[in-house]
Amino acid sequence: MKVYLETYGCQMNVADSELIRSILVEAGHELSPQVEGSEVVLVNGCAIRENAYRKTYGRLDLLRPLRLERQREGRPFVVGVLGCMAQNMKEALFRHPVINLVVGPDSYRALPDLITKAGRPKEGGHRAGRRAKIKKEIDADLSIVETYSGVEPLRFDGVNAWVVVMRGCDNFCTFCVVPYTRGRERSRAKEEILEEVQRLSEQGFKQVTFLGQNVNSYRTEGASFADLLLGAAEVPGIERVRFTSPHPKDFPEPLLKAIASHPKICKHIHLPLQAGSDRILDLMKRTYTRTEFLSLVDKIRRIIPAVALSTDMIVGFPTETEADFQDTADVVSRVGFDSAFIFKYSERLGTIAARDFPDDVAPEVKTDRIIRLFDVQHRIALEKNRAKIGRTFEVLIEGEDEKRAGHQIGKTEGHMTVTFPSSGQPPGCLVPVEITEASPAALFGEPLRLSVLNAS
Ligand code: SAH
Ligand code: SF4
Ligand code: F3S
Repeated sequence: MKVYLETYGCQMNVADSELIRSILVEAGHELSPQVEGSEVVLVNGCAIRENAYRKTYGRLDLLRPLRLERQREGRPFVVGVLGCMAQNMKEALFRHPVINLVVGPDSYRALPDLITKAGRPKEGGHRAGRRAKIKKEIDADLSIVETYSGVEPLRFDGVNAWVVVMRGCDNFCTFCVVPYTRGRERSRAKEEILEEVQRLSEQGFKQVTFLGQNVNSYRTEGASFADLLLGAAEVPGIERVRFTSPHPKDFPEPLLKAIASHPKICKHIHLPLQAGSDRILDLMKRTYTRTEFLSLVDKIRRIIPAVALSTDMIVGFPTETEADFQDTADVVSRVGFDSAFIFKYSERLGTIAARDFPDDVAPEVKTDRIIRLFDVQHRIALEKNRAKIGRTFEVLIEGEDEKRAGHQIGKTEGHMTVTFPSSGQPPGCLVPVEITEASPAALFGEPLRLSVLNAS
């Protein structure tokens, strides 16, 4: 059948969609770039915040006329929700009139079979002129072992490759739905991962980004996360090794020293703070205090002096007072993150916080706090980026800048976006760029010619 697949949510869903494509093509299905003409429409959905649902439902609503048309014509039409959204909502998704397939993140190997079953006519067949009944199929069982070993993801991007090294999360932060949608932690064998990195290098990928819900709790018998990073950094042809998303609790000194020791492991750490008040951190079950977080930052900067730090924060967690919020703003000022994602607390079905704490911070207070925190963070980021003017950074070219004709776009080792007049080099090349302008979220510069570099 012709299958169209759309992806929402984090990089983990993006990487899972590459696995899904591989599984579908292997089973003889054909991938389609658009809904029109497809017999199967799959939406790999996220569950992290309420607006993730809203977006996906909005998308599915647009498929209603097509569902009716196909029913009238008696032609098969499978509409499936996959990913964390499927796992979190399960059968409740069938209340939406277009959905007839629900498949969770650990059940993708069964997807080709489920699609065939869901597409088969229900008793009476797809008879033209009469509305055929829609068949519904669901598989949302979580596994404690599934790592999709042996499935080679079908990738498109030619510079960076996502490599899932572990799946699941055992942390149960009280606000978070991920431990329920992704199940328990499990890691892939180091040898299998490094063989994949080797193949990626042969295919021309220049950067690998290791992924996991809690990536630095990766461990297998005989291999630590540090071993894995060092192993990948040694693969010839791979210029940069990154990872996301780590948890602050899993940064032992040997891991920090490994990052510091190898030029190909990017000196960038995403260190999710979530909140800066001890009382809120405790209610969130984050396992660290603000003092512990700040001393971890000191330790990271001592071992990896040029490190770039980014973070995630939530405002408006239940019971958060103005004083709690000020504590978060204070940690942000003290640390000086290079960039940050800030979210309003969104109550999630099934989480500990949804059960134990009423969502009692008013929406307008959440909005006011997110604006003020953005403001603090923007000022810091702008100051840090302005300090880069006049300095030269090695930039990995990702491609053309779609917003500026004749310009290319790429990333520094610290994961900052840089736009510059076309260097003449193709994507995947590293070019030295002298920074000439800065904004809070991006840099602008001039690529240096090699002759200039040699002369200086
Ligand atoms: N494993 C990652 C988190 C992935 S989710 C980690 O521990 O950092 C990405 C971010 O979404 C989280 O860091 C958090 O800031 C935010 N988030 C998660 N659940 C949320 C919720 N219920 N409301 C608002 N933001 C949330
Ligand atoms: Fe969610 Fe916490 Fe696990 Fe991150 S560590 S995925 S925030 S439960
Ligand atoms: Fe969303 Fe699942 Fe990722 S809830 S953020 S797609 S792990």
